[in-house]
Amino acid sequence: MGKFQVMDHPLIQHKLTIIRDKNCGTKVFREVVDEITMLMAYDVARDMPLKDVEIETPIAKTTVKTLAGKKVAIVPILRAGIGMVDGIMKLIPAAKIGHIGMYRDEKTLEPHEYFVKLPADIDQRQIFVVDPMLATGGSAIMAIDALKKRGATNIKFVCLVAAPEGVKALREKHPDVDIYAAALDDHLNEQGYIVPGLGDAGDRLFGTK
Ligand code: URA
Repeated sequence: MGKFQVMDHPLIQHKLTIIRDKNCGTKVFREVVDEITMLMAYDVARDMPLKDVEIETPIAKTTVKTLAGKKVAIVPILRAGIGMVDGIMKLIPAAKIGHIGMYRDEKTLEPHEYFVKLPADIDQRQIFVVDPMLATGGSAIMAIDALKKRGATNIKFVCLVAAPEGVKALREKHPDVDIYAAALDDHLNEQGYIVPGLGDAGDRLFGTK
């Protein structure tokens, strides 16, 4: 079973409080999502494998460490996942970006896939799927289905706020996937919003509605 980790570093908790506030405007929301994602990426990358390399410092030859493992792909679930790409890119600038477009039927709350564009070697990469809200888990499950259908095997899911319902559903359907969240909230309401959550992450990131 993959792990479920709440990344409750004080800086992450503080910044999450800023964006939960309904009075936080689009500019600050976007900037702080970026900061939280960067802080999370630091720890999500903790188990990336290293290998020895020989280099020469100005003083001496030495054997030191460099990243050895699979190359990374960041895969945002459209649209809100886009807000989490740059934060990871700041730490892993060579990562390639795939996109998976999912929309949620507002009546049934069922997710639908409408766009998948991935790096050609997606099956060779360590994949970070990003979406700020893990609500019912439907979009995350479908996005990971889409990735596995194309050969992906090494997948981590990174969100800001998770609902217990979404964590349970995702772990049941994709037990091999590690899940990272900045907070585990209380529950989903009848409209499918996480409570207390932060509202519609896409609208708040992009200033729509
Ligand atoms: N998607 C969001 O943007 N917010 C929620 O609370 C749930 C799903």
